[in-house]
Amino acid sequence: MSRFAPVALTVTSALLVLTACGGGVEGTPGGSGLRDPYFPKAGNGGYDVTHYALDLAYAPDDRRLSGTADITARATQDLSALNLDLLGMDVERVTVEGERARWSRNGQELVVRPRDDLDEGETFRLTVRYSGTPETLTDPDGSEEGWLPGSGGALALGEPTGSMAWFPGNHHPSDKAAYDIAITVPEGLKAVSNGELTHRGTRDGRTTFRWHTGEPMAGYLAMLAIGEYDLRRSTVATEADGELPVLTAVAPAQADASRAVLDRLPEVMEWAEDNFGPYPFSSTGAVVAPESAAEYALETQNRPVFPGAPGTELFVHELAHQWFGNSVTPKSWRDMWLNEGFATYAEWLWQEDADGDSAQETFDALYDHGEDEHEDLWSFPPAEPTSAAHISGAPVYQRGAMVLHKIRQAVGDDTFHEIVQGWAADHRHGNADTEDFTAYVEGKAPDADLSAVWEDWLYGEGKPDRP
Ligand code: TRP
Ligand code: ZN
Repeated sequence: MSRFAPVALTVTSALLVLTACGGGVEGTPGGSGLRDPYFPKAGNGGYDVTHYALDLAYAPDDRRLSGTADITARATQDLSALNLDLLGMDVERVTVEGERARWSRNGQELVVRPRDDLDEGETFRLTVRYSGTPETLTDPDGSEEGWLPGSGGALALGEPTGSMAWFPGNHHPSDKAAYDIAITVPEGLKAVSNGELTHRGTRDGRTTFRWHTGEPMAGYLAMLAIGEYDLRRSTVATEADGELPVLTAVAPAQADASRAVLDRLPEVMEWAEDNFGPYPFSSTGAVVAPESAAEYALETQNRPVFPGAPGTELFVHELAHQWFGNSVTPKSWRDMWLNEGFATYAEWLWQEDADGDSAQETFDALYDHGEDEHEDLWSFPPAEPTSAAHISGAPVYQRGAMVLHKIRQAVGDDTFHEIVQGWAADHRHGNADTEDFTAYVEGKAPDADLSAVWEDWLYGEGKPDRP
């Protein structure tokens, strides 16, 4: 994440320019998508973002969001133009390296043409000034995300593509970056985001909250919660880092209902570290929003969002995502089962440890009644959802967890534990796909026969035979 290209690279590109026939090397446009198999327009080619500095203001009365996105990125090719994803909003000005750049818009693509080409390897700063009423998106599966306005506030949630409704960026999970998010709201309201609260100040009737996310974060995990929240700070003891900051934001109407589960945060953190290894981020917590704020919970980084007070198992699920999804992030939306299978299996393990059903019992019940799930478990394999409308389906969650249970049966509890922890450690703060995972498991359990697990459970059509 260095801000400047190394000197050696600058010299090399200067030499290239000198030796190219007739003068300058022509850059080419960076590409409007990353060919994600499910969301082909998501993300953009030709550069890699290292840091987002968002400086935003929101007025809930007229639902207007305005501000600047200051993006630091590294060119991965010679670039004559590059795309950002931004849906809706009015762009007012774009600069690259401080110079005005031409830009145009086409659907979710904001195409930027810098005055001078950017050279491969060059680190550059791109600033977009924008404003407008951010949009609520409807996903292929019918759920709403993006900007969700509510009474007196708003919630910004971004899985899988909603982050492009509130800031321009490279909105694909494969391009993770650090973030500094400043958000100014009318005095009396709170504005909560990811990471740590580094500053809070009130001036002229408006309060600014500054949030810092140092560890890499995928855009879909960026979050804003604006409204009447009760903010509380505490600390929790962790394995690796000693005392870790905890920040919870609770809508007042949810205070009573959420007290018991939030009081268990230290216990759930300790359980999760025992099972998954050291917590990967520098703060933790939760946002308990009004029930009407969203239709689902989301594992937003550091601080999952719950619409209303969560039960313990949902809390465990979203915390488990901090390892599986947020630290180890899918390379593409095809690999969703690596998020949801693990987070669902975490619930099974929690139940097992809490003297509830064993994971085997949960597995057996699903095996017997899988066709009755809200989406038939045997309708598609976890590793290959039928379409973008199915990446949040039961075969991804429950059957994904069944894949993990089949691995556990094949390798035994001790090796399974090593695999779960090792997977999180090996790909910490990175990206991984299904093939990385199967190769990893095989490397850890060279003597186990896993071929049927992969062929029948992970990639196979239909209901696998009971072994
Ligand atoms: N990831 C969320 C969870 O399991 C659920 C979710 C919300 C989701 N939006 C999504 C899953 C879009 C897939 C795609 O807690
Ligand atoms: Zn989940």
